[in-house]
Amino acid sequence: MSGSKTNERATFNNRRAFMVAAIGSAVGLGNIWRFPYIAFENGGGAFLLPYLVALLTAGIPLLLLDYAIGHRYRGSAPLAFRRLGRWFEPVGWWNVMTNVIICIYYAVIIGWSASYAYYSLNAAWGADPQAFFFKDFLNMAGPEALGLDFVGKVVGPLIGVWLFTCIIMALGVQKGVAGASSFFMPLLLIMFIIMVGISLTLPGAAKGLDALFTPDWSKLSDPRVWVAAYGQIFFSLSICFGIMVTYSSYLKKKTDLGGTGLVVGFANSSFELLAGIGVFAALGFIAQANGQAVSQVASSGIGLAFIAFPTIINQAPMGALIGVLFFGSLVFAGITSMISIVEVIVAAIQDKLNIGRVNATLLVCIPMGIISTLLFGTTTGLPVLDVLDKFVNTYGIVAAGFVYVLAIIVLRKLPELRNHLNALSSVRVGAIWTASVIFTVAMLGYMLYQDTIGLLKENYSKYPDDFLNIFGWGMSIGLIVIAVLLSLLPWKHGQNFNVKDEHEHEQGDKE
Ligand code: ALA
Repeated sequence: MSGSKTNERATFNNRRAFMVAAIGSAVGLGNIWRFPYIAFENGGGAFLLPYLVALLTAGIPLLLLDYAIGHRYRGSAPLAFRRLGRWFEPVGWWNVMTNVIICIYYAVIIGWSASYAYYSLNAAWGADPQAFFFKDFLNMAGPEALGLDFVGKVVGPLIGVWLFTCIIMALGVQKGVAGASSFFMPLLLIMFIIMVGISLTLPGAAKGLDALFTPDWSKLSDPRVWVAAYGQIFFSLSICFGIMVTYSSYLKKKTDLGGTGLVVGFANSSFELLAGIGVFAALGFIAQANGQAVSQVASSGIGLAFIAFPTIINQAPMGALIGVLFFGSLVFAGITSMISIVEVIVAAIQDKLNIGRVNATLLVCIPMGIISTLLFGTTTGLPVLDVLDKFVNTYGIVAAGFVYVLAIIVLRKLPELRNHLNALSSVRVGAIWTASVIFTVAMLGYMLYQDTIGLLKENYSKYPDDFLNIFGWGMSIGLIVIAVLLSLLPWKHGQNFNVKDEHEHEQGDKE
C-alpha cells in the first residue's frame, strides 16, 4: 500500500472468521421481522419460488461480484471502486453514505429491542401493547405524530448500542468484527431455535404455518411479487451497498471465494425460513386465541416486533421466555449487522485519511451516535425511521446497485473479475454467472422504475410533503451529492491505486 504503518490492511485470521462475520452481517433484522411477512403477503408457499430464483440469479451472483471486487481491489468501497476506475469512486462513497443512513436508524431498533427484552420479563406494556409503544414508550401522540421532545427511555439504550459498536469497531477486524460475530451468532442460533421450538408447541401454531406456506400460485403472475423477492434478497444478503466489498477486502490472498459465497447465501436463507416458521407459529397462536384470521394479526417490522409479539407474550404460556428469546435474537442479529454497516464507513475513512483504526472509529461513531440520538431519541423518531428506511432502500441500495453493476458491465470488467473468482474458488463461475449479473441489472432497473413511480404517484405513507422532501427525496439526493464531493477530496499520503502492486504486496500471504 502506501508504505505507511497506519494503512497496512488488517485481515481476518482465516476463512471461517470471514464466513461468520459475513453471515453475521447478512442475518439481521431483515431476516426476522421482514422476511416472514414479505413471504406471507406475496403468495405464501408460492413466494418460495421467486425467492429461490432471486437468491440463485441475483443474490449469490452479486455476493460473488462484491467479494471479487473487495478481494481483488483490496480496499474499502471507495478505494476498491477507485482502483476499478477514477469515475467509480463516487459509487463507493454512495455506498458509504447509504450505510451512514442505515446505521443511524438500525441502532435505534436494536436499542428498542433491548428495552423490550427487559420489558418481556413482566410484560411491562400491559394489556394494550400498541398504546404502550406509541404513547408510553415513544411518547408520541399517535403512530404518525411528529414532535421534538427527547425520550429518555429510548436515548439510554441507543447510546448503549453506539458505545458497544464503537468498542467493537475499535478492537479491529479480527478481534472486534470477527470476534463479536463468533460470539453472537452461535448464541443467536441457539436462542432462536429454542424460540421457534416453543412457538411450534403453542396451540394454533399449525394455523400460522398453514397461512404462511399455503401457496397462492396466482401471485406469481404479479411482477410486484418478484420485485419483493429481489428486494428482500439484496437487503438481507447485505449486497450492493459496500458491506461485502469491505469485508472481502480483509481476506487473505488465497481464499476460496466461491465456496464461501454459497455457504453464506444458503445460511442466510435457512435462517430466514426458520424465522418464518417461528414468527408464523406464534402468530397462529394469537390468531386462534383471539378468534381472528392470521392475516388480521400478521404484520412486519415495527408492528410485528413491538405490537404483535407483546400481544403474543401476554397470552402465551412461557410468554416471558418467548419475549426474552425473541427480542434477544433481534438484538444479537441486529448488532452483528450493525457492526458490518458501520465497518463500511470506518474502513472508508481509514483508507481515505490513512489514519489508524481507533481514530477512524471515533471519527465515525461519535458524530453518527450524536445524529442517531438527536433524530431518534425524539418523538419524531418513528416517522423519520420509516421514511429513511423506504428511501434508502430504493435510492441507496437499489439505485446504487443498478449504477454499480451496470458500470462494471459497460466497462467490461466482468471477465477480469470472473477470472479472479475462478483462480481462487472451489466453485467455478462461468457464462451463467455473467448472464445472471446482466439479468440482475435489468431487474434492479425495473425495481428502481417501479418504486420511483409509486413514490411519485402518492406521498409515501401519507406523510406531509415537507417531511418527505427533507427525509425522503432530500436525503436521497443528498447522499449522491455528498458522495461526489467526498470523491473529489484528495487521498491522504498518496494512496496507491495500482491493483497489480496490491497483489504483488500480498504474495505468499495465504490462509
Ligand atoms: N442484512 C441485514 C439485515 O437483514 C442488513 O438486516
